[in-house]
Amino acid sequence: MTTTDAAPATASGKPFDTERVLAELTLEEKASLLSGVDFWHTQPVERDGERLVPSVMVTDGPHGLRKQAESADHLGIGNSVPATCFPTAAALGSTWDTALLRRVGEALGRETRANDVAVLLGPGINIKRSPLCGRNFEYLSEDPLVAGELGAALVQGIQSQGVGTSLKHYAANNQEADRMRVSSDVDERTLREIYLPAFERVVKQAQPWTVMCSYNKVNDVYASQNHWLLTEVLRDEWGFEGLVVSDWGAVRDRVAAVAAGLDLEMPSSGGRTDAEVVAAVREGRLDEADVDAAVRNVLHLVSRAQPALAEPGTFDVAEHHALAREAAAAGTVLLKNDAVASDDGAAAPLLPLAGGEGLAVIGELARTPRYQGAGSSQVNPTRLDDALTALRAATGVDVPFAAGYAVDGKDNGSGTDAEALRAEAVAVAEAARTVVVHLGLPASYESEGYDREHMDLPADQVALLEAVAAANPRVVVVLSNGSAVTVAPWQHLAPAIVEGWLGGQASGAAVADVLLGAANPSGRLAETIPVRLEDNPSYGNFPGELGHVRYGEGIFVGYRWYDARKIDVAFPFGHGLSYTTFAYDAVAAEVTGSGAAAGVRVTARVTNTGDRAGAEVVQVYVADPKSQVQRPERELKAFAKVALEPGESREVAFDLDARALSYWHPVLRRWVVEGGEFVIAVGASSRDLRGAVTVEVEGEDVRLPLHELSTVTEALADPRVGQQVRDVVYGSGAFADDLLAMVGDMPLAVIADFGMAGFDRARLGELLAAANA
Ligand code: BGC
Repeated sequence: MTTTDAAPATASGKPFDTERVLAELTLEEKASLLSGVDFWHTQPVERDGERLVPSVMVTDGPHGLRKQAESADHLGIGNSVPATCFPTAAALGSTWDTALLRRVGEALGRETRANDVAVLLGPGINIKRSPLCGRNFEYLSEDPLVAGELGAALVQGIQSQGVGTSLKHYAANNQEADRMRVSSDVDERTLREIYLPAFERVVKQAQPWTVMCSYNKVNDVYASQNHWLLTEVLRDEWGFEGLVVSDWGAVRDRVAAVAAGLDLEMPSSGGRTDAEVVAAVREGRLDEADVDAAVRNVLHLVSRAQPALAEPGTFDVAEHHALAREAAAAGTVLLKNDAVASDDGAAAPLLPLAGGEGLAVIGELARTPRYQGAGSSQVNPTRLDDALTALRAATGVDVPFAAGYAVDGKDNGSGTDAEALRAEAVAVAEAARTVVVHLGLPASYESEGYDREHMDLPADQVALLEAVAAANPRVVVVLSNGSAVTVAPWQHLAPAIVEGWLGGQASGAAVADVLLGAANPSGRLAETIPVRLEDNPSYGNFPGELGHVRYGEGIFVGYRWYDARKIDVAFPFGHGLSYTTFAYDAVAAEVTGSGAAAGVRVTARVTNTGDRAGAEVVQVYVADPKSQVQRPERELKAFAKVALEPGESREVAFDLDARALSYWHPVLRRWVVEGGEFVIAVGASSRDLRGAVTVEVEGEDVRLPLHELSTVTEALADPRVGQQVRDVVYGSGAFADDLLAMVGDMPLAVIADFGMAGFDRARLGELLAAANA
C-alpha cells in the first residue's frame, strides 16, 4: 500500500492538440508520461509553472466506482467514496440483456464523471474457464459471444458519458493462482475461438478508450510485453485506437513492453522505468518512434478526457439504486420451480410466493447479504438492501427468521454453535408453511488474488438445508455466490432454487421482487453448473504447475465440453425458468451468401403461452457436423432477449455472418468457412433446443499447398492433381488390395522413392507444381 498525493485534475474543458504537445516534449518528459504519477493518476508535464499536459485519474471498476480518497491500493483495502454497487458481472452476464447493460453502463459513466475520474477500470470479460477462478464474479460468461456482446454494451454505456473504460484483462487470464507469473499455454485456434473473440468484439463494436493487459504470460511471453497480442492482433488486425495500460504491477521489462505496444505502466514506478526508457533510446536499444507512439496514446487519452472533467455533473443516488435493483432481478436465474401439492390437492410451482403469511426466512445471508466480491472491485455502496427486511416490507408481515449458520465459512457444521443455530432454524421451519433458505459462499471463498479450492457450499449450510427440508419440504433456496456452486448433492431437497449471484447493493430487494413475483425472473445461465467439479474441462489442468497452466481442453470450454463428451450437467448453459412459459415455432434458416461472404438468416417465432408478462432469451446455436477439424457439438452464435405480454408472439430474426460459421484454421492462420451442411438450432438453452434447420453452405477454397510430405489422402482431395495421383498410386498395381488402406497416410515422397513405374521424384515435382500453381 502506498500513500498517494493525488494530483488534481486540472481540466481545461478542451481537448488539446496532441501532435503539437508531442513535438514540444523532451525525451525525458515523454518517458515520464509512460508511467503513472502515483497509484491512480497519469503523469502531468509542467513548464514554467504551467501545465502542458494535465494529469487524469483512472480507477476501479468494474461494477461500481472505487475511488479511494487517501490511502491507495489495488486490493480494495482502503476506503473509497460511496458509489452505487451494481450487480457483479456474474449477475449482469446472466441478464443476457444488452439494452439493460447499456443503461447500467450509462449510470456507471455518470458516477465516474461526477467523481472527476477519466477512466473506469472495467469491464472484465475473461472467459470463465473453471468455476474455481476466484475472480469469476468479475467476469461475464464461459462463452465469448455473451461476454463480448454484454461487454460492448457496458463500454458503450459508460463511454456515452464522456469517460473511458478499460477492457480487461487481456489476455488468457482465467485464474488467480500465480497470476503474476504463470504462463497460460494455449494453442492459437483456442485463443482465436475462445479467449480472444470477446475482446475483439468489444474493440470493434465499442472502441474502449483503454485495454488493460493482464499479469500472466501467454505462451511464455508476458502479456505486457507481447507484441503479437498488443500490436499485431489488437491494433493491426482489430483496429484498436485507444491506449494499452498495464494491470497494476504487470510490467517486468519496461523497454520490451514499450516496443511491444504497452503505452502506460501503472502504477508509478517512481521514475525507475522512465529512466530505463530514456537510456534504451539513447543507447539505440529502443526506437524513439515506439516511445512517440505510446506518448501519443497517452496524450490522446488525457485530451479526450478534458470535456467531462470540466463539467462533472451529478447523479441521482435513488435512481441508480433502482436501476441496480432492476438489473439484479434481471440477472437472477430461476434454476428450478417444481410443482408441489397444495392444501386443495392441486400441484402448483412453489414460486412465486403468495405473500408473507406462513412464510419463514432462514439463513444469515438473508440478513447479512453478500452482494459483491473482494479485491480491487470492492465498492463502498450508497445503500444496502437485505432480503429479510425487503420481504418483510413488501409483504407487511413480520416474517419469522432464524440465522441457521454463521457466515464466516469456518464451521463444518458439527460444533455446538452450529447445532444450536440449526435447531433454532428447524423450529422456525416446522412452524411455517413455506421456508426460504438463503445459502451461499462466505466472502473468504471468493476473491481476487486466489482461487476457490472446491465448488461446494460450506458443510454447515448443507447440513442446515437437510435438517430444514426434513422438517418442512416446501423449501425455496436462494443462492449468493460469484460463480457456480455444486448443487447436485442437495438440489432434490428444494423444489425451487433461485440463483441470485452477487447481485450488488440492491440484491436484497431484487430477491424479494423475484420471490413475490413483482419481477418475473428472466436471467439465464451464462455459465454451466456442472454436476461435479471433476466434470469441468479444465480439471487436472487448473491452475497448472511449475509456472505453466496448459489449456489442454482447447476450444472445448464450458458447454462445448459437456456437450461434446455427453456429460450430464446440473443446469445447462443458457438455462433459466420464468413464471410464464414460451413456445417456439416457425424456425427457419436461409443461406444469404457463400465463401468468405457466407451468411445465414435465421428466423423463429416465440410466443408467451403463460398468463404473465415475461422475457425469453432466444438462443441460436450453430453446428458443423462434418469438418476437417474437430468442432463443438453446437456453439452459441446469436441471442436476443424478447419481452412478451401474455399471449403475445414475436418473430425474431438473426443474421449470422461468415465468422459465425467459421473456424480458425491453424495452418492457414485465418478464419475459414468450410463448405457443407450446417445445423442451425434455436432454443431456450444449450440443452433445450426447440427447432433446427439444416442448410447447405458453399464454403471457401481451403486447399493447403501440397508438398513432398503431403499424404496420398491429402493429394487425392486436391481438385487439380487428385485424379492423376489416384491413377499412379492406385492404378499402378504396385500395391496389393489389402495394402491400399495403408497407403493413404503415406507421404508422397515415400511413395515416389519406392521406385514405382511412372512415379518418381521428378514426376512428383511436376504434380506439386501443377497442384500449387
Ligand atoms: C487488478 C485490476 C485492477 C487493478 C487496479 C489489479 O490488481 O487485477 O483488475 O483494475 O488492480 O486496482
